[in-house]
Amino acid sequence: MSDHQLRVSKIRSGTVIDHVPGGQALRVLAILGIDGTGGETVSVAMNVPSDDMGAKDIVKVEDRELSQAEVDVISLIAPEATINIVRDFDVVEKNRVVRPEQVTGVLQCPNANCITTADEPVRSEFTVLSEGVRCVYCDTLLRDDIAAHID
Ligand code: CTP
Ligand code: ZN
Repeated sequence: MSDHQLRVSKIRSGTVIDHVPGGQALRVLAILGIDGTGGETVSVAMNVPSDDMGAKDIVKVEDRELSQAEVDVISLIAPEATINIVRDFDVVEKNRVVRPEQVTGVLQCPNANCITTADEPVRSEFTVLSEGVRCVYCDTLLRDDIAAHID
């Protein structure tokens, strides 16, 4: 796409999460804990035509880099996403997300009787499957809206 067709401006510094499946951008923002009240400068494009994906979303968060835990959870809803780190207007790093085999300490099990939600020093741990994520301790399967279960 040439520059005059850009839907949202380039950013000076921060992170561009690109190749997010169409319609998932708000979930990406939820994973990052961004609801607008924190004052971050964020640009979002949704359902932009994409040669390889049909339609894609793009999230640009200025002056912030993502933690590995955040990238791991993003990979669950956006397996093809690329994380671009921008400095002084240049993309200085581009990484495709990798679906981890496990996510530890990031998601909260929805089962109130699970040992990870009891008052015990046990970190949550989920196995990543193609259909969702499964709690290692109680086998509860999370399919949709994984973002709603972020600790
Ligand atoms: N981008 C941005 N601000 C910049 C530089 C890049 O917002 N200063 C955005 C671009 O608009 C694009 C993404 O970051 O959405 C990746 O940029 P770039 O690597 O230049 O684009 P492509 O080569 O098209 O990326 P890919 O090969 O990953 O599709
Ligand atoms: Zn559990």
